[in-house]
Amino acid sequence: MNKITSTELRNKYLAFFKSKNHAIIPSASLVPDNDPTVLFTTAGMHPLVPYLLGTAHPQGKRLANVQKCVRTGDIDEVGDDVHCTFFEMLGNWSLGDYFKEESIKMSAEFLTKVINIPLTSLAVSVFAGDNDCPKDEVSASVWLSLGIPKERIFYLPKKNNWWGPAGITGPCGPDTEIFIIRDKKPCGKDCSPACDCGKYVEIWNNVFMEYFKQADGSFIPLKQKNVDTGMGLERTVAMLNGCQSVYETDVFLPIVKFLKESATVEKEDALRNIKIIADHLRTATFMLGDDKGVTPSNVDQGYVLRRLIRRSLRFARGIGIKPECFTAVALMFVDIYKEQYPELLKNKDKIFNELSAETLKFEATLSQGLKEFDKLKQYIQNSRMSGKSAFKLYDTYGFPLEITLELANENGITVDTEGYEACFKEHQAKSQAGADKKFAGGLADSTEETAKLHTATHLLLASLKEVLNDNNINQKGSNITAERLRLDFNFPRPLTADEIKKVEDKVNKAIKDGVSVVMEEMSLESAKALGATGVFESKYDTVVKVYTMGGYSKEICGGPHATNTADLKGFKIDKEGSSSAGVRRIKAVLSND
Ligand code: ALA
Repeated sequence: MNKITSTELRNKYLAFFKSKNHAIIPSASLVPDNDPTVLFTTAGMHPLVPYLLGTAHPQGKRLANVQKCVRTGDIDEVGDDVHCTFFEMLGNWSLGDYFKEESIKMSAEFLTKVINIPLTSLAVSVFAGDNDCPKDEVSASVWLSLGIPKERIFYLPKKNNWWGPAGITGPCGPDTEIFIIRDKKPCGKDCSPACDCGKYVEIWNNVFMEYFKQADGSFIPLKQKNVDTGMGLERTVAMLNGCQSVYETDVFLPIVKFLKESATVEKEDALRNIKIIADHLRTATFMLGDDKGVTPSNVDQGYVLRRLIRRSLRFARGIGIKPECFTAVALMFVDIYKEQYPELLKNKDKIFNELSAETLKFEATLSQGLKEFDKLKQYIQNSRMSGKSAFKLYDTYGFPLEITLELANENGITVDTEGYEACFKEHQAKSQAGADKKFAGGLADSTEETAKLHTATHLLLASLKEVLNDNNINQKGSNITAERLRLDFNFPRPLTADEIKKVEDKVNKAIKDGVSVVMEEMSLESAKALGATGVFESKYDTVVKVYTMGGYSKEICGGPHATNTADLKGFKIDKEGSSSAGVRRIKAVLSND
């Protein structure tokens, strides 16, 4: 087979279908426009759904493109040779124009004549038939006529040979899939494209979309018979170049090399970590660089992005790759893809800034969470982690459940996920009740801004004790509005300008260091024994919450708080004055620079 680069394959594919009268359309955004049932564009047909259903497409009935796609359903498989969460799909469509015969003939011509795959290296599968749709004898006979012998034509059921809809309802149909037969032993006498032993690698799927799946699960015929095809760019390039995996192809090679050089910890399956990091960061780069603007968050697309970045950090840590390498990797991807996807170059700064901010935010959390995981591990009975422990990792250390599950799995431990869910629900009910009553610690409301100011109050108190060298300083009152914090504390004299500056600097240093705000529940005795600051002792229950911010502050408190001191951005004292005899009052604000 001929060696080929990704760029060459894209170009050859588009030129071929152009020569077959297809209009070349641009890749759509990764965030679908018309489909609330999915978060990302998972296939080239996705943006074309209205046209598959019968609306006339402005560019005609024959279309082709290269579409950027994200599929996270197989995220656990990433790290093997062929699975990726992002991939490019080469696709051609007939919107009620040609059907099975012409479609299969064009595919065969492209594969055997344009990119020179020998016919003997190909196998195909066709739909075996069921109550919804008959056996696909038409496709089988076309393949036979083209020279694929019947031993290499496999009839498979709906599970294997039916595609779509992309969401819950929509166009779908039986398909014929094309496989490269790899030069390795079959796994057994039943080895077929249906098994995943790696003997057969699917490279192209031709879907004959003549049905619509309804919400009740039934299928009705579509107004028009369409063809929707998709060829995996990375896989095909890998197969054509005799690569073991997609990570050896030109779009990944420099990144894998860089990550190998950046790894400082030797591990037997380090390459798996590297593949996962490379895959996830490529997906993150495309999500951040998309013109529809995905940013890390706790919901929808932003949450998937956040999970990918966090998961990469975990695998990077396993082989000693520093988080600082992440932005370098993202910029390498921008460079590799900038011609095909110019939006990456346009959004380069955003990619860089968001990725650095997100990695910084999670890195400290991850460190502490992993330590806590190791601690919890010692108390585990029957290799099973309680739901409460898993919830603690989530609530206190920001560990999404899937990270806990993965870590548990690596350690031969199972997790009581039902118990976790129960804790989660209980927590939600409590926080709702708490939000209704407002928070006890002098807070007027519980918005994010006030949570940050509350965190700043802890840092301020700790800094005052240190700068004024007086451990008897305590909080005498606190009041927080959306704009500022106010802290009253016992001290006999006004502060000098120099002292005020030092206190400010100290708080800003804690912010700059970006330490996690970690909450632990413990008995009041333990809290005192740990040297936690506390003022209103009579108000405390026997079990108290202690908030720790690295070495800066440890204080008994009800919350709520920012999750990391970096969220506070910058701290400034506005005013220092007298509150009452022996009590001073400071008003301070947070800035965004
Ligand atoms: N839409 C089809 C697929 O994704 C081509 O496999």
